[in-house]
Amino acid sequence: MNQRFDIIGRSPAILQLRELALQVAATDVTVLITGETGSGKEVLSRFIHEHSRRATGSFIPVNCGAIPSGILESELFGHEKGAFTGAVQARKGYFESADKGTIFLDEIGEMPLETQVKLLRIIETGQFQRVGSSETISTDTRIIAATNRNLTHEVAEKNFREDLYYRLRSVELHLPPLRERGSDILMLAEHFIREFQRKHGIAFEGFTQESGELMLRYPWPGNVRELRNLIESLLILERGKEITPDILEKHLIQRSRHKSLVHEPGKPEKIEMHLIYSSLIQLRQEIGEIRQMLQQTLMARQPSGPLLLPPSSAQPPAASAPPPAEVTPLEELEKRAIAEALAKFEGNKRRTAQALGINERTLYRKIREYGL
Ligand SMILES: Nc1ncnc2c1ncn2[C@@H]1O[C@H](COP(=O)(O)OP(=O)(O)OP(=O)(O)O)[C@@H](O)[C@H]1O
Ligand SMILES: [Mg+2]
Repeated sequence: MNQRFDIIGRSPAILQLRELALQVAATDVTVLITGETGSGKEVLSRFIHEHSRRATGSFIPVNCGAIPSGILESELFGHEKGAFTGAVQARKGYFESADKGTIFLDEIGEMPLETQVKLLRIIETGQFQRVGSSETISTDTRIIAATNRNLTHEVAEKNFREDLYYRLRSVELHLPPLRERGSDILMLAEHFIREFQRKHGIAFEGFTQESGELMLRYPWPGNVRELRNLIESLLILERGKEITPDILEKHLIQRSRHKSLVHEPGKPEKIEMHLIYSSLIQLRQEIGEIRQMLQQTLMARQPSGPLLLPPSSAQPPAASAPPPAEVTPLEELEKRAIAEALAKFEGNKRRTAQALGINERTLYRKIREYGL
């Protein structure tokens, strides 16, 4: 199988997801993939395609949110000559091109209601018509849909058809956010380091153990995509130099500021979210410094040279092991951040979840877990 389409990670959640993905790959069932932005929904859908009997057919990703709604229908189903102004020639749609293959409908929550009707029909009968034609065409296409929106909410708001929703979610695969995947973060980092060392011809000196620990604690609001982009810019901008926590924090903060200013200029919740992250990072840095001072005075430091990635001792302690006394447990920091954000948005769960960069379901779970 093509290495690019592997799902990297050994956390229990990812191993279980991979198992499920292999099971559904063996069938033609329609799959709905949910998960935060950048968590690997497209990677998972390619993985399913590559492991299915359709692997030799085409895999066609369609971003329903990026194609203007008037054009989406003719892109998906094709059109006849003269079907609308500008249709100077007949054209095949993606469903015809993906025959015997897989079509990946990304951001399905953005699909207009009229198109949803046609999609439901294809799922149920495998049949559709080109725009401007009455001839029925059959297709043998596996459909995988993905969303980072809360579709239940969209159904309640009447933006998404309930019948289609139930049809899609008969098999739902949920990608956990990167921050919940433990040392997969380091495994992915290692993978991206190899990729970018090769691509840019840079020899990388590695991360210090403390930087590795910081990566394990950082909440990764942009998930795997953010990690990948960070590794690339660290390698290029720091010219392969060893990454200390100071350097890492500088890049994390710069990136989040940049994002909040460039992409979401008018969204106070986003800026708020980045401020919360920045303070969390700062808090962690201080804790790290205190711990380092304690370590230096209390015991001879273990020799720890620069590492490409910190050894497994950098992994979070097992659930049964008590956290070291001088460090604030990550749960405590998280609980505090959630409590503060809830207070800030006067208990509004949707805005709180948005500001924290987690989905509402995760927020509800955490509120229950922490008894907030
Ligand atoms: N498990 C993984 N192994 C290797 N690379 C991954 C993995 N998950 C994600 N990536 C990489 O992270 C980036 C984002 O992944 P992908 O495009 O699949 O996310 P997404 O969930 O579809 O994001 P969005 O919601 O923004 O569409 C890609 O560059 C992808 O190659
Ligand atoms: Mg995607």
